[in-house]
Amino acid sequence: MRRGRRIAVALAAPLLAAHAAEGAPDGAALFVQNCVMCHQADGTGAAGVAPSLMGEHWAKLGADRGYLPTIMLNGLYGPIKLAGGQVFSGNMPGLAQTLDDASVAAVANHVRKLQGVDNGPAYGADDIKAVRMLPGSPTLSRQKRSQLVGG
Ligand code: HEC
Repeated sequence: MRRGRRIAVALAAPLLAAHAAEGAPDGAALFVQNCVMCHQADGTGAAGVAPSLMGEHWAKLGADRGYLPTIMLNGLYGPIKLAGGQVFSGNMPGLAQTLDDASVAAVANHVRKLQGVDNGPAYGADDIKAVRMLPGSPTLSRQKRSQLVGG
């Protein structure tokens, strides 16, 4: 019995050490795990699968600090207009149950890096927590988008 416990502790120790060394979540790696299958590695999307996360409409979408986390947490449903008036109609599932606040912040910061737009200070877990407290759904996300860029 005692021996068994000592073995368990010996096994757990390296895992804890590895976790501490990791520090903050890796936004680029989380983007690969959770977003790339639809939005592609460079974020430019794929026809019929997911829209590009780039384009001049992001000047307005990105200026609203809550937009990116809202979509990531709650998803998005309904037709949307992209750069050049192109219309995309799809359904993105929210990732609120999959990613914690620090992870959403890290991915959001990675998306901004891909976009190459400076929209103010980096996201932190507290920013995401505040968005999580608000009512949200794919349809509400669409309304928020319409308010920001029309269409
Ligand atoms: C299963 C495929 C899928 C996955 C996985 C996915 N998305 Fe999406 N995403 C979509 C679709 C489809 C839309 C467009 C929905 C619509 O047309 O209303 C979208 C829309 C978006 C938008 C809004 C774009 C705009 O112009 O307003 C953002 C931002 C976004 N996704 C970010 C992400 C991020 C970040 C991840 C990973 C954490 C992710 N998505 C994971 C399919 C996906």
